[in-house]
Amino acid sequence: MAEGNQTVIFQFLLLGLPIPPEHQQLYYALFLAMYLTTVLGNLIIIILIRLDSHLHTPMYLFLSNLSFSDLCFSSVTMPKLLLNMQSQDPSIPYAGCLAQMYFFLLFGDLESFLLVAMAYDRYVAICFPLHYMSIMSPKLCVSLVLLSWVLTTFHAMLHTLLMARLSFCEDNVIPHFFCDMSALLKLSCSDTYVNELVIFVMGSLILVIPFVLILVSYARIVSSILKVPSARGIRKAFSTCGSHLCVVSLFYGTVIGLYLCPSANNSTVKDTVMAMMYTVVTPMLNPFIYSLRNRDMKGALARVICKKKVFFCL
Ligand SMILES: *[C@@H]1O[C@H](CO)[C@@H](O)[C@H](O)[C@H]1NC(C)=O
Repeated sequence: MAEGNQTVIFQFLLLGLPIPPEHQQLYYALFLAMYLTTVLGNLIIIILIRLDSHLHTPMYLFLSNLSFSDLCFSSVTMPKLLLNMQSQDPSIPYAGCLAQMYFFLLFGDLESFLLVAMAYDRYVAICFPLHYMSIMSPKLCVSLVLLSWVLTTFHAMLHTLLMARLSFCEDNVIPHFFCDMSALLKLSCSDTYVNELVIFVMGSLILVIPFVLILVSYARIVSSILKVPSARGIRKAFSTCGSHLCVVSLFYGTVIGLYLCPSANNSTVKDTVMAMMYTVVTPMLNPFIYSLRNRDMKGALARVICKKKVFFCL
């Protein structure tokens, strides 16, 4: 496999977060708590939606898929980060690194596509309330979810295969806490022009198209409310779209912040902090955004608990 005088790299070293040694334990506890909250919060949402038949509507089935995607997304990076903070050996095998990159892209994009499906669902619910059930048929919902999986698998596979083509030389230290695509590209000693081109083109498509589709859905929702303005209509739109709008802003806010903020000298620190934001904080907050101000979810929680412990509730 070695070409000429190049050495073949079998493993990478993940430098982790720029945290001073005396604060390691504090941050370890913090990240562990955040990760456990993410896992628990999203699991509760998935289980509640599965158990309660009142929540078997397109909106909640998409939400359950989003929770699943959040759960997997943070499980791609967090366990390895936590493990590395405790061990003296921050290495990751070459194949492990590519696998981490693949799943990171897979679940990251899946989230973006599911947010579009949810926006379309809200658009139909508000603009065509009488035809909602016939338009958002189970068949359409399954197709939308399947389509998201197909597109995101293709995209993640494309980047991973392009990365597997590259060779790596002496330097195997990744200044990040997971195998980030751009950090790996910087280490490579091959020509990365094709990779960068594909990242730019696909990245724009995969972020901009969903974002535009979401904006179009919301533009239509707003215009349909303005046509017949009523306090009740506005309140209904707010209560059904509010949570989705919060999640969309959080997701695209961090992504746009990452790409539009000018890079400073110590850009690796900024990159890791921003990456922390979307790998840990966003998946952790999504379940809370959806459940805290949602009467259906609270009702479902009460019903599920009551079914198990009838006497307790009486
Ligand atoms: C995802 O959505 C599909 C289609 O609505 C649904 O059948 C499936 O149960 C959902 N998956 C999860 C994990 O919630």
